[in-house]
Amino acid sequence: MSIEIPEQPKVLVVGGGAREHALAWRFAKDGAVVHAAPGNAGIAEVATCHDMKADDVAGQVELARTLHVDLVVVGPEAPLVEGLVDALGEVGIAAFGPSREAARLEGSKIFAKELMDRHGVPTAGFAVFDDADAAEAYVREAKRPLVVKADGLAAGKGVTVAKDADEAADAIHRIMRDRQFGEAGARVLIEECLVGQEVSYHVVCDGERYVALAPAQDHKRALEGDEGPNTGGMGAYSPPPVVTPELEAAIQKRVVEPTLAGMKAEGVPFRGALFVGLMIVEGEPFVLEYNVRFGDPETECLMTRWGGSALPLFFGSARGDLSGVETRWHAPASLCVVLASGGYPGAYEKGKPIEGLAEAGALEEVVVFHAGTRREGDQVLTNGGRVLTVTATGADLREAAMRAYAAVDRIAFEGAHVRRDIGWRALG
Ligand SMILES: Nc1ncnc2c1ncn2[C@@H]1O[C@H](COP(=O)(O)OP(=O)(O)O)[C@@H](O)[C@H]1O
Ligand SMILES: [Mg+2]
Repeated sequence: MSIEIPEQPKVLVVGGGAREHALAWRFAKDGAVVHAAPGNAGIAEVATCHDMKADDVAGQVELARTLHVDLVVVGPEAPLVEGLVDALGEVGIAAFGPSREAARLEGSKIFAKELMDRHGVPTAGFAVFDDADAAEAYVREAKRPLVVKADGLAAGKGVTVAKDADEAADAIHRIMRDRQFGEAGARVLIEECLVGQEVSYHVVCDGERYVALAPAQDHKRALEGDEGPNTGGMGAYSPPPVVTPELEAAIQKRVVEPTLAGMKAEGVPFRGALFVGLMIVEGEPFVLEYNVRFGDPETECLMTRWGGSALPLFFGSARGDLSGVETRWHAPASLCVVLASGGYPGAYEKGKPIEGLAEAGALEEVVVFHAGTRREGDQVLTNGGRVLTVTATGADLREAAMRAYAAVDRIAFEGAHVRRDIGWRALG
């Protein structure tokens, strides 16, 4: 390996969800002294938490300076799009994640589509509009299912898969005229509707090279059988059998490599985690979107599967030198199940005491990552829609699923909602 890492590096994790818990857990296990901001009740068991919002750029920079950290790892997209990595760089602090310019891959869906277009990355056909009337005329004319997307960040709520022109027109109206997502709806992207299986593919990049992580599959819908409203994710597993070695090679050659080469050629080299959302259509990969950070809950699977220290991966990416870093898997499979508050993704109550955390966490190959939790005295209380991500590794997906659900069954809080079918495509 060509980069030096301090013996006991000090790492600040920005964010406070289960993804950040998985990262903080990993770094603590690998011998780092971990800080987190804002963190949560679970993260507080492996890190020192600081009361600072993830997207408070100036506050996070000040915190990193005061703590004299060796590395900042940014979890969520908002501070990346706001330029946190650039701001840290200006005061000489190494950070894992893309620059503000490179974060446009996620911050503007239209920027991403146009980049794909210029560099021949396979994706659905599309049209771009800055005028609601023109967009509406287009969908009325089309007479086929289309996907309507707000250009900018919309917390995972800016996309409508419309079965007919009325639904598409309604989405255009909400995005562009009502400005439901503010300035994110100044322009709208309309895409052809692809039908297939979705896959998440993560790589870690240093501006030039990349280290491929394992493919994963997320379950976005609230209810079993992939029914009900969209959520931030109700569970995930890795690896999904739909991704054969040949398909993975095609994803790297036809998607990851031209994307990274294109960014570099255009003067915006990409560093950090690139998470490509793909639709696999008849065995061929098509890009649905890019995310410029790790997925949640995919990260919980990837960080528990990872073998050896993950520090070289994160330091190498931040310093622009991943040479010598290789992927090693400690476990062949991992599966995670989200425990959500009753009512999520709609309205839900907070402050319910959670029972059984220690019993669940003591099971073999199980880690209980916290999302929306907070500690009050000796109790841990629910504090968000997604509350916990119970994660287990195994020799195969079936074993990982058995362990994860055995742990889920030890945990209880009033109104807890769990999908019982995570991994169904692989497990039948
Ligand atoms: N072109 C498309 N064809 C079919 N489904 C799509 C298409 N684009 C997006 N989707 C669906 O909508 C979801 C959200 O879209 P995505 O582009 O990932 O935006 P975001 O995650 O920012 O909401 C995807 O996970 C997928 O299920
Ligand atoms: Mg998405």
